[in-house]
Amino acid sequence: MNHFQYRNCELFCEDIAVADIAKEVGTPFYLYSRATLNRHFLAFDSGFEGLEHITCFAVKSCSNIAILFLFGKLGGGADIVSGGELFRALQAGIDPQKIIYSGVGKTEKELRYGLESGILFFNVESEQELQSLNRIAADMGGKAPVSFRVNPDVDPKTHAYISTGLAKNKFGIPIQEAEELYVQASEMEHIAVKGVSCHIGSQLTLISPFVEAMRKIKAFIGRLSERGVTVQYIDLGGGVGIIYDDEKPPHPKEYAQAIREELGGLQATLIFEPGRVIAGNSGIMVTEVQYTKVNRGGAKEKHFVVVDAGMNDLTRPSLYGAFHAIQPVVKTGAAARVVDVVGPICETGDFLAKDRDIAAVQQGDLLAVMSAGAYGFTMASNYNSRPRVAEGMVDGDQFEIIRERETMESLIRGEKIPGFLEK
Ligand code: LLP
Repeated sequence: MNHFQYRNCELFCEDIAVADIAKEVGTPFYLYSRATLNRHFLAFDSGFEGLEHITCFAVKSCSNIAILFLFGKLGGGADIVSGGELFRALQAGIDPQKIIYSGVGKTEKELRYGLESGILFFNVESEQELQSLNRIAADMGGKAPVSFRVNPDVDPKTHAYISTGLAKNKFGIPIQEAEELYVQASEMEHIAVKGVSCHIGSQLTLISPFVEAMRKIKAFIGRLSERGVTVQYIDLGGGVGIIYDDEKPPHPKEYAQAIREELGGLQATLIFEPGRVIAGNSGIMVTEVQYTKVNRGGAKEKHFVVVDAGMNDLTRPSLYGAFHAIQPVVKTGAAARVVDVVGPICETGDFLAKDRDIAAVQQGDLLAVMSAGAYGFTMASNYNSRPRVAEGMVDGDQFEIIRERETMESLIRGEKIPGFLEK
């Protein structure tokens, strides 16, 4: 359930007509519903009520500081993967003791920044990273809190690009090798062993891979305790998948129930890193039709709707062949037609939808690209020198911009013509 619904043929975000916002801010833009963000955060978080846990929102999925601030107010933390995301989380007022730092390639500078900020723990992904942390913590005269991201070799049955828990993926430390590393880490002077982590992939529509991973983690924790290593935290990675089209993902409550059952009597604080399940259906991207055209050269007539948003604004369709529903902002009752909805970028791979049945549109019509709240704006780029679009948020009958549209000047910020070219 989300708060993007039609009232008399007009798409509303909560109590505001999306078309009115478009008039005010121009297109394209991303629009988030506060009520939906709230609802989805709580739907996930409340599933673990009664268990010690922290819901650390995956900043990579939707990183605007307004959104991070909102989750901070609801008691959430942040799962970060770069110094930039750490900066955002801190700017948004997230408690550092609710920040966990994941990722295979943290630089020395980033490790230091995390330590200085007093984050809850690092999800360490290699022995070399552990050595670096030990050295930096020694240098700073402290102890680095660590959890190891173990790779349980579980097939999440999702898109290959977002499967992360298979032995062939670059992520984590193979579960069979991790035991020795834990023993080694527990003897290091400047390392404090805090937890065990895993993240097997994103957009999972089955519970069984999570259960399989949890079982492996539980058995692993048993083996660790036999070796005298105890952990305080279990980090189970990202959330469940969402409905873009006709997927049937489990409800977050079902996921929570399955985890509860697997946990048994295990005493630990649970950490979750959900992104998509909270933000995905809490945001849309609104774009305006520029032109419609028909190419009759091939065996079949091909209809195109050219809009003002491209693969640089929402890259998921081009990159993963991902499906995003496309809906009219104002329903006209026009007959449906099969079209490709394409952007202005000079690449054939620049499309938002292919062979999609949508009500016929005309120049100037507005379209809403649904389920764009996660991995939408955060993956946008300036390709083709296109300023990144605005982001806005609705709360009931109020609307505010939460990120200004970039300007032409912002496109060349930091660029300069070297003196030797001017001679
Ligand atoms: N934790 C870690 C360590 C992750 O790598 C990810 C996502 C998450 C948590 C959040 O997972 P979620 O709850 O959102 O499923 N750009 C792709 C998705 C990449 C996911 C990367 N990692 C897409 O647009 O589908």
